[in-house]
This record gives sequence, C-alpha cells and structure tokens, in this order.
Amino acid sequence: MSAILSVEHVGVRFGGLVAIADLHFDVQAGEIVSLIGPNGAGKTTAFNMMTGFLKPSQGDVRFRGTSLKGLPPHAITRLGLARTFQRTSVFPDDTVFDNVMIGLHQMGAAAGRAPVLDALLGRAGAGERKLRARAAALLDWVGLAGRAQEKAGALAYGEQRLVGVALALATEPAMLLLDEPVSGMNASETRVFVRLIRQIRERGVTILLVEHDMPMVMEVSDRIVVLNYGRLIAEGPPDRIRSDPAVIEAYLGQGSAARQAAAAAQEAVHA
Ligand SMILES: Nc1ncnc2c1ncn2[C@@H]1O[C@H](COP(=O)(O)OP(=O)(O)O)[C@@H](O)[C@H]1O
Ligand SMILES: [Mg+2]
Repeated sequence: MSAILSVEHVGVRFGGLVAIADLHFDVQAGEIVSLIGPNGAGKTTAFNMMTGFLKPSQGDVRFRGTSLKGLPPHAITRLGLARTFQRTSVFPDDTVFDNVMIGLHQMGAAAGRAPVLDALLGRAGAGERKLRARAAALLDWVGLAGRAQEKAGALAYGEQRLVGVALALATEPAMLLLDEPVSGMNASETRVFVRLIRQIRERGVTILLVEHDMPMVMEVSDRIVVLNYGRLIAEGPPDRIRSDPAVIEAYLGQGSAARQAAAAAQEAVHA
C-alpha cells in the first residue's frame, strides 16, 4: 500500500489559539479512514487546511506525492481531492436535478470552459446534453434519481446532503473528504449512506470521514484517527480505538452528547 495523503506535522493557529498542533497521519489509497474527536478538537479545521481553505502555520500535506503548500482550493480539487461541507446548502426552489446542473455549470466555469465559446462553435447543444447525462448519472449514483424533478427544498435534510456528495463526486476525485455526512439523517438514511460510502470506495475513491455517529464510524472505518484539543491522541483499527483509554477519557471529559457517543462506541463492540 502507498499513502495517497500524508499530513506531515501540521499546525494551525487562529491568532493565539492553537487549533491543531503537530498533526501527522497517512491515509493509504483505497482506505476508509475516520477522523474523530470531541467538539472543538480541530476536525473541521483539519479538513479546511487539507483542502486549501486555511493555511497551516507549520508542516505540510502531501496528496499523491504533491505538496499542497500554498495551493488554493480549486487547484487542490483539480489534483483529485474533493470535499463536502458540514453544512450543505441547496437552492430550495430549484429541482434536485437543476441543483446538480447549476453545480456542474459552476465547475465548468471555474475550470475555464466558456459556454459562450461553445455556443459560437455550435457545441452548446451537445455540451448541455452531456452535462444533463452527467447530472442524471451522479443522481443515480447517490440514490436520488427518483427525486430528480422534486424541489430540492422538499428533500429531507439528510437527502439534501446527498446533493453535496453528488457535486463532490462530479469532480472525479481520487479521494473524498466527508464532514459529518450523516448528521441530520435518521437510522435508515444512515444505513443507506454507509452503503454509498462503500460503493464510492469500491469505485476506487479513498475516503476520509469526520463523523459523530460512533456506531457508524466503527462499522465503516478501516482505521480511525483521534484528535483532542488539536492533538493526535490515538490511531488504529476500530476495535483498538474503542477500548483505548486516552480516547475514552477524551470523550468522558466532555458533555453528555460526547459521553453518549463514547457509550455508543462501547456498545458497538458487542453489536
Ligand atoms: N475561523 C476560526 N477562528 C477562530 N477560531 C476557530 C475558527 N475555526 C475554528 N476555531 C476554533 O478552533 C478549534 C477547533 O475547531 P473545529 O475545527 O471547528 O473543531 P471540530 O470540527 O473538531 O468540532 C475550536 O476551539 C474552535 O473554536
Ligand atoms: Mg466540525
């Protein structure tokens, strides 16, 4: 196995606050890895740093051997590293299909493909047909094909997040970063999403997941990386992480939601 992503001793500061300190871990190609930790541990900050939305004050990230130092988000996406956001926003009054089309058009524009030029050359029709086929295929992939003509605002919150996943997949990533994808999903939506994550991996996409749903994390992950107060406190396969004293301690020190998460992780051992 070879590392597709290497986080090399990264630090991120917000003024005087050290949000991440000396973070280091690898993700191997084809793995599903979860990044977990109590609220405020630095998970979203780590995602923002890996995808170029925040500059590390120390260290570097390598993706497929390339240093990401100084690269803006769109350049990182183009290298094959895509992400979803913790909060996905859809255009509620447009259909699910049109939401994906809008996203695809924006991506085309960002990549410098000018629709005007296509029109001048008489390619607009073919280009648009191709995009529509692409949007349909993406919606099929995330299981929303049957809802394509409904208004996006009519979808359950959990389903709206699938639109964000479809748009991330549209960039044809080698690796996908998912920030709390099942928050707001009920148990059966979560089960469907776990299947989707596995399907995405089967198509050769490496996955890095931030998620609070401990049973889901324990079920889907090959490996788990645990942060607390911006520091790496444990790393290993799910069965080792659930019984790791430092991990249990980190969650027990937090509020009741975190305690429940720790308890759920323990229960998942016996499930
Ligand atoms: N833009 C920001 N400015 C200042 N502090 C921030 C900013 N974003 C996050 N933080 C702080 O950094 C720490 C890590 O936050 P975050 O990465 O959102 O944690 P998590 O996603 O693990 O809950 C927290 O203390 C948070 O308050
Ligand atoms: Mg977060």
